[in-house]
Amino acid sequence: MSQLFTPVRIGRLTLQNRLVMAPMTRSRSDDNGTPSDLVATYYSQRASAGLIITEGVFPSAMGKGYVRTPGIETDAQVAAWKKVTEAVHAKGGRIFMQLMHCGRISHPSLLPNDAQPVAPSALKPAGQTWTASGLQDFVTPRELSLEDIAGVIEDYRLATRRALAAGFDGVELHTASGYLPEQFLSSGSNQRQDQYGGSVENRARFVLEVLAAMVAEAGGDRVGIKISPEMGFNDITDANPQETYTYLVEQVRGLDLAYLHVALFGAKVDYHALLRPLFNGAYLIGGGLDQTGAEAVLADKRADATVFGGAFLSNPDLPERFRQGLPLNTPDKNTFYSPGAEGYTDYPFASGTNAN
Ligand SMILES: Cc1cc2nc3c(=O)[nH]c(=O)nc-3n(C[C@H](O)[C@H](O)[C@H](O)COP(=O)(O)O)c2cc1C
Repeated sequence: MSQLFTPVRIGRLTLQNRLVMAPMTRSRSDDNGTPSDLVATYYSQRASAGLIITEGVFPSAMGKGYVRTPGIETDAQVAAWKKVTEAVHAKGGRIFMQLMHCGRISHPSLLPNDAQPVAPSALKPAGQTWTASGLQDFVTPRELSLEDIAGVIEDYRLATRRALAAGFDGVELHTASGYLPEQFLSSGSNQRQDQYGGSVENRARFVLEVLAAMVAEAGGDRVGIKISPEMGFNDITDANPQETYTYLVEQVRGLDLAYLHVALFGAKVDYHALLRPLFNGAYLIGGGLDQTGAEAVLADKRADATVFGGAFLSNPDLPERFRQGLPLNTPDKNTFYSPGAEGYTDYPFASGTNAN
């Protein structure tokens, strides 16, 4: 008997199924970070997910890291997101916003007044990023002062408030993929000598303070966190990830969050076995799942819900396809981040339409 289509409680919500749409950057917003009307169509097409987690959204303009990504800072952005949440809710869906501050994984050309990106330490990441003028090397970031850090935490707090004003059911803190929260958490990118660097207690402080600010606005039962231990994306390294993530999750317990979302990509340790017993909310597993894998995870009670990225991107009606055992559309990488409807809102439904 499939567990995928049984309801599940996540924080304040009861989801209609255990299929969660993964946060995926799709770059269909304007240069001011305001989502286009296509964004509302795209998410509402996928409203049959138990829960949608949006693409990463910058809490403030200094958190932007990619062209045409959206924010939740201005009134225009809030108004555009409101259309998204209304469209999803009108179809009975549920939607959290993922808050993503890219920190040093950015470029002056993406930031206000060509500002230097910010980070816990002035360490330049290896690699390049897409800008309006093509691929460019990352630059050396500016080290955040203690006052700056308090300001960034305040940005997350206000972003949470605005996300709720825009009608979101909750917010997720992106603590993976080498962005600002993981830059603080990881020993390779954090060489601070103050209370935000050094020991694991100090490196985790930023993430825990950001979460506390989000919880103060939304309540723990409307806040989730995503982590990807050992992912290594965006030049992120940590000397002892088992210790780091064990400590983090133990501390997060006290915040009574709605969920812990763990996406693993080739980690050497079974972090699900390590972390799930430490956590007190719903546990979400993502990363490389197919239907069979998800059924097995749920049957073995290794997670409360399962998260799908590429499959949801290319199959707006993924739950229905799974329920009926129908074939899946294949995601087209060439249109992941391209402007416009192609590869965004034109993936067909199994019913032969792409009705929204
Ligand atoms: C096009 C694309 C964009 C993504 N953007 C984000 C993002 O903004 N935030 C995030 O946490 N993960 C992002 N991811 C990772 C997904 O959330 C997910 O962890 C990953 O796709 C693995 O799941 P899958 O194997 O089911 O696709 C992205 C993935 C894809 C394919």
